[in-house]
Amino acid sequence: MAAGWALRRLLAVLLLLQPAAAVWPRPQVQRSPPGGGRCLLPPARFRFGHAAGSAVGPGCTVLEAAFQRYRALLFAAGRPTGEAGGGAAGGAGALFLWGTHVEKETVCGFPAGLETFSQLVGRDQNGTYYINKTEIVDFPRFPHRGLLLDTSRHYLPLRAILETLDVMAYNKFNVFHWHIVDDPSFPYESSTFPELSKQGAFNAMSHVYTAGDVRTVVEHARLCGIRVIVEFDTPGHTLSWGPGAPGLLTPCYSGKHPSGTYGPINPILNSTYQFVTSLFQEVSSVFPDFFLHLGGDEVDFTCWKSNPEIHAFMKQMGFGEDYRKLESFYIQRLLDIVSSLGKGSILWQEVFDNGVKLRPDSIIHVWKSSKPYMDEMADVTKAGYQALLSTPWYLNRISYGQDWMAAYQVEPLKFEGSAKQKDLVIGGEACMWGEYVDVTNLTPRLWPRAGAVAERLWSNASVRSLQDAYVRLAAFRCQLLGRGVQAQPLYVGYCENEFGGF
Ligand SMILES: *[C@@H]1O[C@H](CO)[C@@H](O)[C@H](O)[C@H]1NC(C)=O
Ligand SMILES: *[C@@H]1O[C@H](CO)[C@@H](O)[C@H](O)[C@H]1NC(C)=O
Ligand SMILES: *[C@@H]1O[C@H](CO)[C@@H](O)[C@H](O)[C@H]1NC(C)=O
Ligand SMILES: *[C@@H]1O[C@H](CO)[C@@H](O)[C@H](O)[C@H]1NC(C)=O
Repeated sequence: MAAGWALRRLLAVLLLLQPAAAVWPRPQVQRSPPGGGRCLLPPARFRFGHAAGSAVGPGCTVLEAAFQRYRALLFAAGRPTGEAGGGAAGGAGALFLWGTHVEKETVCGFPAGLETFSQLVGRDQNGTYYINKTEIVDFPRFPHRGLLLDTSRHYLPLRAILETLDVMAYNKFNVFHWHIVDDPSFPYESSTFPELSKQGAFNAMSHVYTAGDVRTVVEHARLCGIRVIVEFDTPGHTLSWGPGAPGLLTPCYSGKHPSGTYGPINPILNSTYQFVTSLFQEVSSVFPDFFLHLGGDEVDFTCWKSNPEIHAFMKQMGFGEDYRKLESFYIQRLLDIVSSLGKGSILWQEVFDNGVKLRPDSIIHVWKSSKPYMDEMADVTKAGYQALLSTPWYLNRISYGQDWMAAYQVEPLKFEGSAKQKDLVIGGEACMWGEYVDVTNLTPRLWPRAGAVAERLWSNASVRSLQDAYVRLAAFRCQLLGRGVQAQPLYVGYCENEFGGF
């Protein structure tokens, strides 16, 4: 993955005017130069700037937006109030950024560098902002560090999505996997097929994402250094599509007669592929990322088995009784469609497990727990496909105690395989499925627990100490409270600035 790994070449080196504060996720290299010392940051005079000779200069929108966000975060709410200004003379009062290798990936790295800088800023008893002299060299271990939100089982308001993107950036996540539709509801407002959300959303007026909403999410994410990968899961998980797309879903039979219920998308009709082509044509232009997540998980064959026309088709195609072949028939055509639209595909692991002939650049997303996930990672990469890991990171599952620790202790490359196979692991995603999650509990359930996944995907594999992680994650969570994020506690303790600013 050239894109992510180019960050290695990014010199996000912050040379700043005592012992280093705790940064989450832990940087690759963090040192306190001999002699120590600190640098004062008087808010009135502090500025971000471009160092002479930097390859990235003023006019870069991503960077200018990041300067504004971090200026507000550095000196705003949540930090203990004291005399503004923190007046001692001699404050350096500036952070100069210096970039080499002008590539778009370089620019993506700067917001991450600013985040690190912001976590190092402290405030002393006199209310003076300062930063201890610290040297940091940083780059991510894996290029794909994702978080999945499910907006079908419960609708998440736009504001909740935007706030989640902000906190993702604080954790250096760089992919928002938007599981936008599923069986329960279809909140995506399609311009090609407006009936889909009219008939399929929980409420077609209030519980939908308009084209403007989607643009807002994509742009907000971009400014945070986050890609948006949307998932339109088919052929299963599509019940909400049915009412707005007559003829798309398979009619299930009870004996000789249609039972009035519907199953997965009907894979034997030409009209299905016309529909899918038009929908994905639209989706491809609305979501600029190269990748689309095509789902492909948990296809229930019961309905297909009950339908006599499907039977006849199976016979004609020589599929016997193997319904996985029918699923493969559908997925292969879908892959061709998506590829002809100039997009890459990410698919849940069943598609690989069921032997679908994939394109070499397809990415397999490992999520099932029926088989040890490390065996699956080994199989997927042995077959030459890139892999994403999510099985141990279903954060919608909660248990009493410090369950972030299990997520933290995962080692994505701990499977039998060659170095070449390990290189095919491009990262993973924390998942927040929506059965029991809506806007009331999304934030505390995500944070700081998802931070455990963020550090595993960002920091060196050798960064594994639970004690060390606990101290930094607890401190980071206090910083999140200071930024107005309702992050739940790890365990017993307190923050200097509790939520709500008392
Ligand atoms: C700076 O270093 C001092 C002395 O080691 C330490 O007490 C303080 O917590 C550090 N402050 C920050 C913000 O890192
Ligand atoms: C805070 O201010 C007092 C009085 O000006 C000064 O003596 C003390 O050194 C200051 N403390 C710090 C940590 O700068
Ligand atoms: C579906 O399309 C195929 C190939 O384009 C064609 O051979 C077939 O007759 C079509 N079937 C129907 C029912 O139109
Ligand atoms: C990263 O971890 C590996 C072992 O997992 C170790 O060999 C290497 O020195 C570490 N790099 C840094 C910068 O700590």
